[in-house]
Amino acid sequence: MKIAIMGAMYEEITPLLEFFKTYETIEYANNRYYKASYQGLELIIAYSKIGKVNASLTASTLIEKFGAEKLLFSGVAGALNPALKVGDLVVATRLAQHDVDISAFGHPFGYIPEGCVYVQTDETLVHIAHRVAKAQGLKLVEGIIATGDQFICDSTKKEWIRSTFQADATEMEGASVAVVCDALHVPFCVFRAISDAADMDAGFSFDEFLVSSAQESAKLILAMLDELKR
Ligand code: ADE
Repeated sequence: MKIAIMGAMYEEITPLLEFFKTYETIEYANNRYYKASYQGLELIIAYSKIGKVNASLTASTLIEKFGAEKLLFSGVAGALNPALKVGDLVVATRLAQHDVDISAFGHPFGYIPEGCVYVQTDETLVHIAHRVAKAQGLKLVEGIIATGDQFICDSTKKEWIRSTFQADATEMEGASVAVVCDALHVPFCVFRAISDAADMDAGFSFDEFLVSSAQESAKLILAMLDELKR
């Protein structure tokens, strides 16, 4: 089986590349794709660069050019739910684009005509993630992720996203990857470890915890592969 593992930033896929050690690097569309194999699984790994447009391009490429049959996203997020703290792991059940706004026409925030506000992740992958996390002694919580082309570092904006989308965490790629995978019928899952609280201190917290939180998320992805190879 061919599995894509995707991050947005180099730091988010580094723990995986360090783990696999040997991989082939392929340059395509201003980006690098890393091919590795792991216990019978064919892996294709990439970071997209930040934002929804880059993430859509990379997810589409992973599927259409490299033939990914499942896609796992690994990275960090800002917490919207006050119960989530730095380092906590979230698996998305559904994702929405918080910066889509055609409310002028009476539509809910996040709504795109002929689409819907939320895209659901693959239930089987979420189920496997819980089993794997339990076996590894990792705490994993399910949540709604709100995605937009903004680093959220403001309490008012944070509260608006939380209350409008009932979202638990915010980041800048997940929902666009979800749209691509849903349209191309590729089962997918988005894992995020919390790096900050999306408040006025978010920038400092992100810089401090990007690497360690990205490692937490990657740890779960690696454990998922052990389960998926069965
Ligand atoms: N990724 C990690 N923290 C974030 C935040 N506060 N806003 C958007 N994306 C993020």
